[in-house]
Amino acid sequence: MSSMEKLFDLEGKVVIITGALGLLGTELCQAFAEHGSHVVVIDLDPSNCERRAADLSGKGTRTLGLAVDITRKDDVERMVQIVTDRFGRIDVIINNAQHKPEGFFAPFEDFSLEDWERVIAVNLTAVFICCQAVGRQMLKQGSGNIINVASTYGVVAPDHRIYIGTSLGCPAVYSASKGGVIMLTKYLAAYWGGRGIRVNAVTPHGIYNSHEKHFVDNFSSRSPLGRMCNRKEVVGAFLYLASDASSYVTGHNLIVDGGWTTW
Ligand SMILES: NC(=O)c1ccc[n+]([C@@H]2O[C@H](COP(=O)([O-])OP(=O)(O)OC[C@H]3O[C@@H](n4cnc5c(N)ncnc54)[C@H](O)[C@@H]3O)[C@@H](O)[C@H]2O)c1
Repeated sequence: MSSMEKLFDLEGKVVIITGALGLLGTELCQAFAEHGSHVVVIDLDPSNCERRAADLSGKGTRTLGLAVDITRKDDVERMVQIVTDRFGRIDVIINNAQHKPEGFFAPFEDFSLEDWERVIAVNLTAVFICCQAVGRQMLKQGSGNIINVASTYGVVAPDHRIYIGTSLGCPAVYSASKGGVIMLTKYLAAYWGGRGIRVNAVTPHGIYNSHEKHFVDNFSSRSPLGRMCNRKEVVGAFLYLASDASSYVTGHNLIVDGGWTTW
């Protein structure tokens, strides 16, 4: 292997991915498994986690599927124990899960406190819980790599005009939770920087998932690249941040938005 290939080598790394059964999580699991990492599939449904992990394993890739509600501190601590018992270490965690309750698209004036609290619990508080539990293990190892999944709407406000005439929207709680994730990322990068742990964020934007045409048209006309994101186009940012190619990068929010936040 050349020294350049070594920079991007992810073989044998133990990578935990939360929200692993969702749109982006599915792509991340596949990508890391293809790069020879040992992938830990974390989501809510036990049999689907196990099935996905079994589908990914092979070619030296060892996988594990676990149902963990990441809002529950005890369950997350148990996850860390199970993963370290099985693999001996944790190299990377990708905090990717999100919660979208039924009332997610309600107008701000009608948005329920219960939904606000539940979204914050999964999108932000659970990132704290996972960083804390996994961070303790990484401190013992003297190395580790945390990648939090943020959003453009944690960086800029949504342009609400793109949702007019569609069934979609972006609630304030989503922006608030993702803004919190970006600052938690920077805080921990500074806090753990001298102890071998890098902490970065990736900000995806508008991943196409069979959205209604009117929305796709609105979105595309507002996007500098003139289109939504193909789900495979976000993955490279995670592979880069998880690898030694980014060894001097910490506290960064890598924005993959087709230029959305440039104007
Ligand atoms: N899809 C996009 O266009 C887009 C854009 C910007 C940012 N993001 C971010 O990317 C990440 C992934 O987005 P997605 O579209 O793949 O999401 P998704 O809704 O498809 O998947 C989220 C997954 O998280 C899981 N989950 C929810 N609560 C959980 C809990 N308590 N414990 C464990 N797992 C739980 C769900 O079961 C689901 O499988 C999210 O953080 C999202 O905010 C997505």
